[in-house]
Amino acid sequence: MDFITIDGKNIPALGYGTWQLRGKECAQGVAKAIDIGYRHIDTAQIYENEADVGLAISGCGIERREIFLTTKVWMTSVQDGALQKSVDSSLQKLQTDYVDLLLIHWPVNDVPFAEQMKALQQVQEEGRTQLIGVSNFTVAQMKEVVENLGVKVATNQVEYHPFLSQKPVLDYVRAHNMFLTAYSPLARGKVNDAKAVKEIAKKLGKTPGQITLRWLLEQENVAAIPKAASEKHMIENFSIFDFSLTEDEMKAIHAEARPDGRMISPEWAPKWDKAA
Ligand SMILES: NC(=O)c1ccc[n+]([C@@H]2O[C@H](COP(=O)([O-])OP(=O)(O)OC[C@H]3O[C@@H](n4cnc5c(N)ncnc54)[C@H](OP(=O)(O)O)[C@@H]3O)[C@@H](O)[C@H]2O)c1
Repeated sequence: MDFITIDGKNIPALGYGTWQLRGKECAQGVAKAIDIGYRHIDTAQIYENEADVGLAISGCGIERREIFLTTKVWMTSVQDGALQKSVDSSLQKLQTDYVDLLLIHWPVNDVPFAEQMKALQQVQEEGRTQLIGVSNFTVAQMKEVVENLGVKVATNQVEYHPFLSQKPVLDYVRAHNMFLTAYSPLARGKVNDAKAVKEIAKKLGKTPGQITLRWLLEQENVAAIPKAASEKHMIENFSIFDFSLTEDEMKAIHAEARPDGRMISPEWAPKWDKAA
């Protein structure tokens, strides 16, 4: 496993995403992932699967502290008071006293960031999360939180894969001792159609998914959280620690980025940063 170290805490750079997994499929998927060796699990209140994730973690036979667990606060619960209550509910469902990382899922503009951050920090001070972070924040929004409000933010979780450059966000997180967590790292399966990725996969005897995840993890301060319901994909995605990519191969994959590469942009999304 590769690790990212932020403020003395080691974060497994490869995690297991659980969006759209629910019920038995989610509990079995998380249990299987932990069995394979994953030690970083990503969930969120809005996924409606925290109880399934909690069931899998509590029954897996691995100590809680060995697992890096992330959850996210949904947009309707970011007010002071509501945020803390939503964390109570998440922790109860997750069957744990704390998460390792607590994120604001999407930027909400009609509640001051100062209020949202104060509530997050309170949860952190009480030991109910070790690290705090954001998701889907632009560089301007990160600046407000990190520089204007002086909050120690560990990560910004954003969409990142070969079709989408995240250079502005990457430059910012690296300059501020943060990491980027790449969501939809396989472009929801579409990396199988990326020409450079396919060519390198063929040359190295790997799959396009493995090449993509290796490409992400070779970048400084980048973690990735692929989702896989199938055991085949789970194992495949975890088998990426025995090879590396050359500088030319890294560049060829970066060159797959295109202006319309973003896949997730709901109506409440911020005005995204444009890569230069
Ligand atoms: N913060 C946010 O707003 C946000 C937004 C989106 C996602 N996320 C997080 O990021 C996680 C991952 O993103 P995602 O679920 O959107 O997409 P993803 O991980 O890029 O792709 C998942 C899809 O790719 C398939 N797949 C998995 N491994 C593969 C492989 N090796 N080769 C080919 N296909 C493969 C999966 O199939 P099977 O399932 O059939 O195996 C599934 O259909 C989510 O689960 C969630 O935890 C966060």
